[in-house]
Amino acid sequence: MIESALPNLRILLGVSGGIAAYKAAELTRRLRDAGADVRVVLTENAARFVTALTFQALSGQPVRGGLWDEAAEAAMGHIELARWAQRILIAPASADLIARLAHGLADDLLTTLCLASTAPLALAPAMNQQMWAHAATQANLGVLRSRGAVVLGPGSGSQACGDFGAGRLLEADAIVAELMALHGGKLLAGTRVLVSAGPTFEDIDPVRYLGNRSSGRMGFAVAQAAAEAGASVQLVAGPVHLPTPAGVARSDVRSAREMHATVMQHVPQCDIFISAAAVGDYRPAEIAAHKLKKTGGALALTLTENPDILAEVAALKKRPFLVGFAAETQNLRTYARAKLERKKLDLIAANRVGGGSGFDAADNELLLLWPDGEEALARGAKLDLARALIARIATLRKADPARAKGAKR
Ligand code: PMT
Repeated sequence: MIESALPNLRILLGVSGGIAAYKAAELTRRLRDAGADVRVVLTENAARFVTALTFQALSGQPVRGGLWDEAAEAAMGHIELARWAQRILIAPASADLIARLAHGLADDLLTTLCLASTAPLALAPAMNQQMWAHAATQANLGVLRSRGAVVLGPGSGSQACGDFGAGRLLEADAIVAELMALHGGKLLAGTRVLVSAGPTFEDIDPVRYLGNRSSGRMGFAVAQAAAEAGASVQLVAGPVHLPTPAGVARSDVRSAREMHATVMQHVPQCDIFISAAAVGDYRPAEIAAHKLKKTGGALALTLTENPDILAEVAALKKRPFLVGFAAETQNLRTYARAKLERKKLDLIAANRVGGGSGFDAADNELLLLWPDGEEALARGAKLDLARALIARIATLRKADPARAKGAKR
């Protein structure tokens, strides 16, 4: 995460009881990396899962637990702490804590601070999927939202209890990226980003084409996240039915060759190229002038290879920071890392496709791989994943300014 993305923002991080409490340790570190000043409050139940010492070491500040701590009240008392906070973030927020907040209870330090503070409240829920889906939890969240609280996530996927569904705590990067969006942090200010999205269609004759299942949602989410992060964004979109994200310039194309020409035209003016499009690898060698007629037998189509847009951009003398996607049905990590190397990319976002996942769904799950590291982004909305991807790109560019300026790999 980029330093000073949340410059000196005073965040009161509340940790409530649940197995996801251990993830709040990583979150504390990421918030501090982003420049925030973090003070941690553990509920009594959270302290059964994680220790105050961990959070004290990571935040560099004493950790508060109970309301009746004489030493702490003599130093920064709970009212002062409530006034100190510019943002309250509760992660994980358990179903019980959400219920207590919705009812205005003040039966422990964290709920008391929430009542005593005017700081805006953000909640990152984590719980069993049935508890998340329960009408009581949803009604409580409705009450909190109506009072201005922001709910971050949750993600969905396999849960510690063995269930599968919504209720996973968002990844630390995604939470930080969402906070930054709330606080106007601009990770990519002054940066020019080119994004490709959607499928390509290769005409066979005037009525038929070869295409793929891409809806464009992932690429459009990436374009939106980059624009939110302050970049000027050019989107090259294959044939999709999606509105253009606010503040994004868009060129529509149909075939891989049209996408290739349009991308190559915009590449010299961009600092980062994110290739989320599902580009057809082959096209019919010839496009029939008239509708092909049934012959009563088999029909053979001769296909010819399309240009590999990413590989061509990677070979440029002056190349942008290059981000590819890898759509795989098996051996995700191995195949994606091979693609990262072969195409000489700076970062690749691998997703599993097929069987209802990846293509044309609201959610996705990404494994980010770069030459000396990786990060798994748990299942979540494509926009949340796109924000975390943008945060990772910003971090990598900052860590290696030569590559950010287009040095070849
Ligand atoms: O659009 P959605 O419905 O939201 O679905 C999202 C998605 C699954 C399409 C997206 O997340 C994704 O994985 N996009 C890349 C799909 C793909 O073409 O993957 P690939 O593994 O075949 O290609 C690897 C990389 O090379 C990609 O960045 C691709 O854009 C690029 N490529 C591929 C072929 C080609 N001729 N030129 C290219 O530039």
